[in-house]
Amino acid sequence: MSAPVSVTVRAAAKINLHLGVGPVRADGYHPLATVYQAIGLYEDVTATRADAWSVHTIADAGIDLDGVPGDESNIAIRAGQALAAHHGLADQAAHLEVHKGIPVAGGLAGGSADAAAALVALDRLWELETSDDDLLAIAATLGSDVPFALLGGTAIGTGRGEFVEPLENHADLWWLVIPSEIGLSTPQVYRKYDELAPADVAGDAHPGDLVAALASGDAGAVIGALDNDLTAPAYALRHDLGARVDELTALLGAGIRVLLSGSGPTQLVPYAALEPARLAAARLTDAGIAHWLAPAPVAGVHVVHYD
Ligand code: C5P
Repeated sequence: MSAPVSVTVRAAAKINLHLGVGPVRADGYHPLATVYQAIGLYEDVTATRADAWSVHTIADAGIDLDGVPGDESNIAIRAGQALAAHHGLADQAAHLEVHKGIPVAGGLAGGSADAAAALVALDRLWELETSDDDLLAIAATLGSDVPFALLGGTAIGTGRGEFVEPLENHADLWWLVIPSEIGLSTPQVYRKYDELAPADVAGDAHPGDLVAALASGDAGAVIGALDNDLTAPAYALRHDLGARVDELTALLGAGIRVLLSGSGPTQLVPYAALEPARLAAARLTDAGIAHWLAPAPVAGVHVVHYD
């Protein structure tokens, strides 16, 4: 088979079913014990042969591209340059076309998905056959949750989030994903966490209850064990998020759980079955609240098109 001219790779959004945050380390990062899950919102990155680096981004309806760099500071290009450097191919370049289906600065790791998709698309385009271990190591240099974007499914993350191990999971969930019009900066939320130094957090202890619930396949127990230590700092920075919980509870019933996605501001309402999730989505539509309905877990990066 001749070398491809272009390759399209898809990567999913991530949420954290558990985000336990320990005290800040000397390097400014926080030690985490987190359970990642890939949900059905996607970025597609198409890599095409070119003599110089360039990136062009388009988005699904409702996704604001403000703040997405169009130059070499874009994380997809940085991923490509890191892959080229790893193979001693500093002169290699490509054009990257990014189609965003994940809100920007939402706590859903859309940028990390772009980086993971770019790594695999360029690996295939340049026929490098990079090992999985090397891809994971390069991914970790690009951002704490880029390795998980490669892996997908449900996984435990340690270190600053970059060490990932797949978890046994027999529970399928449906997530109402409620974006916020204004993004939230991850470093700012972690700084607020340091400032508040909340005492009632999970910290970086192993989330044994959630891990057991996932393995047992009891979706209700998984929903009961959801937890995010960044909730208090994010809600302290953004009072509209607390108001939104009240609004969602009034619309969907007092029994719902509202989980912050990563460092926010996206909020998530889990359902153990599709029908109640659809009914809830219809209520949000009637109330004029923007949302997506996403299944989980879904696969990590995968090739969707070769030319
Ligand atoms: O690794 P990444 O570039 O995604 O991290 C973005 C920022 O989030 C870091 O600069 C840091 O301020 C914060 N962060 C943290 N602890 C982590 C992960 C991220 O403090 N474990």
